[in-house]
Amino acid sequence: MKTLTIAVIAGDGVGLEVVPQAKRVLQAVARKHNLTFAFQDFEWGAEHFFRWGKMMPSGALDLLQSCDAILLGAVGHPDIPDHTTLNGLLLPIRRAFDLYANVRPAYLYPGVKSPLAGREGGQIDMVIVRENTEGEYAQVGGFVYMAQPEEVAIQTSVFTRRGIERVVRYALELAVKRNKKNRVASITKSNAQGYGMALWDRTFHEVATEFPNIETESLLVDAAAMNFIRRPETFDVVVASNLFGDILSDLSAIIAGSIGLAPSANLDPLRRYPSMFEPVHGSAPDIAGRGVVNPLAAILSSSMMLDHLEEGAAAREVEQAVAAVLAEGKALTQDLGGSSSTQEVTDAVLEKMA
Ligand code: NAD
Ligand code: IPM
Ligand code: MN
Repeated sequence: MKTLTIAVIAGDGVGLEVVPQAKRVLQAVARKHNLTFAFQDFEWGAEHFFRWGKMMPSGALDLLQSCDAILLGAVGHPDIPDHTTLNGLLLPIRRAFDLYANVRPAYLYPGVKSPLAGREGGQIDMVIVRENTEGEYAQVGGFVYMAQPEEVAIQTSVFTRRGIERVVRYALELAVKRNKKNRVASITKSNAQGYGMALWDRTFHEVATEFPNIETESLLVDAAAMNFIRRPETFDVVVASNLFGDILSDLSAIIAGSIGLAPSANLDPLRRYPSMFEPVHGSAPDIAGRGVVNPLAAILSSSMMLDHLEEGAAAREVEQAVAAVLAEGKALTQDLGGSSSTQEVTDAVLEKMA
């Protein structure tokens, strides 16, 4: 029997509610596929910060490194500045393990209502591949004359040819592997960001020449935002910088019904480090602690984790159970127009798997 060691960081807010549900589903699927999960729970996040002054202990990354994968809920607390929490936990993991491809599928499941008129199940089917280690998130900069009237803040984006090339290649290869619309859209703002994003555009065109069967388009991010609404069905794989990929993946999530359905994988495609799987959404303090958060984004993230761990049959079983629950439309949380609890939705997924 294969044993997979999973580092679990539930984190903050609704992360603490959705991660236990994802674990229930993983345990259930494991029983059917001759697998064992050894979960290592790490209670890092805001509570750790209140107690110890930091989001995770020193040596935390070493503890994670020996695991097969990381399952994360969400990070963020209303009483701590977001740049403190996120630069203290989530972002250092993405950077330290060089998880350069952040893969965020947006699929309109049959039975789910898109806020866009006239879109039926299956018609929106795209994957955003977000650069995940550099760009606007490089965290290079500083303050001068701190807290003085003449204070200056510098925040620099860092774009490297190597960084762009590898994520663009990942996106093009993904379009080949999906074999759906065989299309990749690259998103920049090179009309205004004439250095880093001009390098991105050039690199995209160079790498794309190696993929003659993939149709490509380069869009400016403002036009891309409009086209996600106007013609979402035309997108297949979308590759974007760290910040643009972040923003566009909330947009792709909502046109596919809810951010409560949007999973993500932070991948090291070279498999040098554990990859990390987490819902796209945050700690949602506005609904946390009430048992009403949608667990499906976290459950679908664990399906992506199974896929990465070469347990494709188990991954598909989880995804199909989620799809069946959505198609039936009985057990739905409030974000999808229902009134079921987090627990009841997971129960329904487990029933479909049984
Ligand atoms: P959010 O994603 O937490 O919430 C946005 C809105 O969507 C809220 O109204 C929330 O109730 C709703 N929502 C989110 N997930 C849901 C789910 N599963 N089911 C039903 N409704 C859901 O974004 P925010 O409010 O901008 O951020 C809250 C905190 O989370 C901040 O501290 C932010 O920095 C952090 N954050 C963390 C991550 C992460 O850990 N990966 C991602 C995004 C935001
Ligand atoms: C996400 C989140 C994070 C990001 C924040 C919380 C730093 O919004 O994973 O989408 O921007 O990467
Ligand atoms: Mn985001």
